[in-house]
Amino acid sequence: MADAQPSLSRRARRLAAPDADVWRVHEAALERLAAGDDIILLSVGDPDFPTPEPIKQHTLAQLAADRTHYSPALGEPALRQAIADLETRTTGRPFEPEQFVIFPGATAALFTTFACIADSGAEVVVPEPMYIGYRGIFAALGISVVSVPLDATRNFRLDPDRVIDAINANTCAVVLNTPGNPGGNIIAVESLARIANACRQRGIWLVCDEVYSLFTFEEPHISLLRATDNLDNIVVIDGLSKSHAMSGWRIGWAVAPPDLVQALGDFSGSAFFGSCQFVQDGAAYALAHDEPFVQKMCDEYQARRDYLVQRIAGIDGLVCAPPQAGMFVMLDVSAITADGGRFAQALLDVARISTIPGVGFGATTRSYVRVSLTQPVGVLEEACDRINQSLPAIEAACA
Ligand SMILES: Cc1ncc(COP(=O)(O)O)c(C=O)c1O
Repeated sequence: MADAQPSLSRRARRLAAPDADVWRVHEAALERLAAGDDIILLSVGDPDFPTPEPIKQHTLAQLAADRTHYSPALGEPALRQAIADLETRTTGRPFEPEQFVIFPGATAALFTTFACIADSGAEVVVPEPMYIGYRGIFAALGISVVSVPLDATRNFRLDPDRVIDAINANTCAVVLNTPGNPGGNIIAVESLARIANACRQRGIWLVCDEVYSLFTFEEPHISLLRATDNLDNIVVIDGLSKSHAMSGWRIGWAVAPPDLVQALGDFSGSAFFGSCQFVQDGAAYALAHDEPFVQKMCDEYQARRDYLVQRIAGIDGLVCAPPQAGMFVMLDVSAITADGGRFAQALLDVARISTIPGVGFGATTRSYVRVSLTQPVGVLEEACDRINQSLPAIEAACA
């Protein structure tokens, strides 16, 4: 009998590169970079700063002290305590370690949260543009997205009424991201409170991803944990990838009500069986000793934002508003082409600069590209010079 071919699950097939087109320019850029081409990478959201030295040293000492064994599924007590202390400090309301679950990254925290709150076929309401990574999670779990456009003309401002109006009988959760990737928008505290109220009245979850909370420029970030009094239907996700330049360490967490904490722990016990001990020790140390490093990185992102926005203002055909927070600037290229993907390809071909086509974040930003601030001002200067010099060729390539 001929061998039969085992098949992949429907879930795996749903996941098969739903956003392949979005990464095409970035992947081509990486290939050219590896081949020695002089490419400027402005496509990734991975901080270019090294993890601060004291955090590395503390973690190495924990590794040397054999903190290399299994860890509780809910996370190391010292890290859960450090996060509770952080949230107590920043929100002014008391938090206990039992309210937090540690995951190998915010992505795992998000995946597990949706696995525990949404059945296959459920819907979530999500403002758009939205973080690219949500799509894979929703696809894997069979969750449908009802998107609500943010107002691109007003710095990607969120209208809470539009979000609330999009909730229907199939909605199991509203998903917010503040400060937002890619829009760099901060959701107003009143909007957070109103949406939280509406979700609670309808018996649905409100999940808020706050991984850029420490990189805000003029206005502070106000956590949903502070914006609303009742946390019974609230899940907040955060992590150290961005704030502490620790993306490869894989540290994220969820704060959730008790039943959900239990479910997250059960799921995590089956899926991950805990996170690395010495890495969690390093994360706890990072949270207790972070202020000078985090502030320095935030100031640097702000200086890069200011530089880029001011240079773009001098380039005909390109428009951008200064983001309020985060690590990205959205470039409106609609005066050149309605297709940001075409622009991104031309920018790579002509000026050797890689960006992410705005359509990756949803149809609302089809005529945008996302520029990452993970390069120093000197590199951004070179990128702007190249764009300036090659704009006619870029326009011709987009025609
Ligand atoms: C909004 C948002 N949430 C979550 C993540 C993923 O974070 P982590 O590295 O902790 O998985 C990212 C990474 O780019 C992000 O931009």
